[in-house]
Amino acid sequence: MSAGAETVRRLTVGDIARMYADGRRIAMLTAYDFPTAKLLDEAGIPLLLVGDSLGRVMLGYENEIPVSMADMLHHTAAVVRGAKQALVVGDMPFLTYATPEQAVANGGRFLAEAGAQAVKVEGGVRSARTIEVLVKAGIPTMGHIGWTPQAANAAGKVRVLGKSREQARALLHDALAVQEAGAFSIVLELVPEQLAAAITERLKIPTIGIGAGPGCSGQVQVITDLLGWDSWHPRHAKPYADLRGTILAAARSYAEDVVAGTFPGPDQTVRMADDVLDEVLGKGAFDRRAEEVPEGIPLDRDL
Ligand code: KIV
Repeated sequence: MSAGAETVRRLTVGDIARMYADGRRIAMLTAYDFPTAKLLDEAGIPLLLVGDSLGRVMLGYENEIPVSMADMLHHTAAVVRGAKQALVVGDMPFLTYATPEQAVANGGRFLAEAGAQAVKVEGGVRSARTIEVLVKAGIPTMGHIGWTPQAANAAGKVRVLGKSREQARALLHDALAVQEAGAFSIVLELVPEQLAAAITERLKIPTIGIGAGPGCSGQVQVITDLLGWDSWHPRHAKPYADLRGTILAAARSYAEDVVAGTFPGPDQTVRMADDVLDEVLGKGAFDRRAEEVPEGIPLDRDL
């Protein structure tokens, strides 16, 4: 190692627990590819989620349901290669943890094949047994309650959950069940802020909110929303950049330059020695002399 070079160490769930115990809020982002993960790591984001939102935002599926293990492992491995420090959480896709056995087999693949450090599963009380089995098998697990995209077909349109007494009570039970099962942290998605804060106060593991107000132990956002990749973003998101505008302007300028013949210019172009090319094309000094030989005088080849 060169003098002054810092050793980069991958964060563990123990580091996340320490951040939480120290009262430091935790910034989490989704990532789906190598270059973005590399930048987010450089920016010091401690937790990266390869969410199954991959299906919607990167693969063009209508929702999260069609996302497969193959999709998730492929993208999780790319994120792990890009991020050397962040703890990478792989989102277990729809129906890949329907039984504890299936959960351990598929969860294990995220760690063993893709190099993730943890997995995330949706569901509270209904997923508690699965979380327990995953954690006992040595697979650190993050829970996810509130709006859970994989339940979209059963739950209907995207909405805030927990406004009614029944829903609020159920969410509190869900959160406690996920903690009891051994999860190292829990996502609260689309939950009223007072309820999210109350759950956060009652838990001993960090809550990571998305559309759940500022009272959570940390926040997660979908990277494309954060970067302003699309003209639409959900209400809970705040675009911190205008990548859509930047990409559109760049693509249009490039196309204009190509059409005008101004790209590539001298800075992007390599030249070779002209006499080398002349020789290859039969236009060298030797070739010219041969052409100048008057007719009637035999050449070597004719002798
Ligand atoms: O898939 C995803 O991106 C998620 C976050 C919204 C928490 O589950």
